[in-house]
Order: sequence, then C-alpha cells, then structure tokens
Amino acid sequence: MNPTDLVFQSYGRCCRKDEFFVDFYDFFMASSDAIRARFVNTDMPAQRHLLRNGVMQIILVARGMSDRKLRDLGESHSRKRMDIQPEWYGLWEEALLKTVRVHDPEYTPELREAWREVLKPGIDLIRGAY
Ligand code: HEM
Repeated sequence: MNPTDLVFQSYGRCCRKDEFFVDFYDFFMASSDAIRARFVNTDMPAQRHLLRNGVMQIILVARGMSDRKLRDLGESHSRKRMDIQPEWYGLWEEALLKTVRVHDPEYTPELREAWREVLKPGIDLIRGAY
C-alpha cells in the first residue's frame, strides 16, 4: 500500500473517536505556553471539528486534490492574519504524530514515516504562506 492510502486508513481509525482531537489539542497546547495562549478564547469543540477537516484536506492534497483550501489556511495563519510562527509547525506535527501513536491500534514506526511524508507538502504549504 502506498503512504497516502496507509495514512488515509489510519486517519479513518483515528477519527472514530472525538477523543483523538481532544488529545491532539492537549498535547499541542502542552508543547508551549505561547501556543496555549493562542487558544484561550477559542471555542474548542468547534476548533476540533475544523481541525478534523484541515487534516483531511492535507491528506487529500497528498492524494492529488486541489490545494485551494490549504492556501486559504496558509492565508489565515500568515503574519498578516493570525501570525502563526513558522517554528510552531514542528510542534503541531509532533503533537499529531503522538496522537496517532496513542489512538491508532495499527500504529507502527513505518506508519509514522508514512504520516510524516504525507503531512509534509501540506504543512510546507501552510507554513510557507507566512
Ligand atoms: C485555526 C488548521 C497549524 C493556531 C485553524 C483552522 C483550521 C486550522 C482548519 C480553522 C480555520 C481558520 O481559522 O482558517 C491548521 C492546520 C495546521 C495548523 C491544518 C497545520 C498544518 C496551526 C499552528 C498554530 C495554529 C501551528 C499555532 C498556535 C490556530 C489558531 C486558530 C487556528 C489560534 C484560530 C482559533 C480561533 O478561532 O480562536 N487552524 N492549523 N494552527 N489555528 Fe491552525
């Protein structure tokens, strides 16, 4: 199976429980006070829902779909709008990989590498719009 198929299926297993997104934001916010501070006024249930779609967009772009929605995310996260620091994306990726490890019963080190490969173009695109 190619990396995008492996990750598509892994994400399907992860999304079965909303806990995946609760844990993701717990890990992500625990990685830096500056990041936690960005979510103090956020409606977290709504944000978890938006992130569910955002990660799916990254996977779909890796499978060849249009990157228009990711370019919009790049715009919203850029210095002109939310001013999300480029160095925070490494923490975002680490938090996501940790959450996959905790939630996907079929997790392996090879699956982690597939996730890294599939996430890279989407993360680069959003971060690159800074
Ligand atoms: C909002 C996805 C990285 C902080 C959002 C939204 C999505 C999203 C879908 C809602 C739509 C929007 O506001 O444009 C992603 C994805 C990321 C990423 C896929 C990684 C590639 C980050 C990072 C931070 C961050 C690194 C660092 C703190 C925020 C904040 C909001 C937001 C503060 C707005 C929350 C609010 O409305 O109060 N993100 N994000 N994001 N994101 Fe990200």
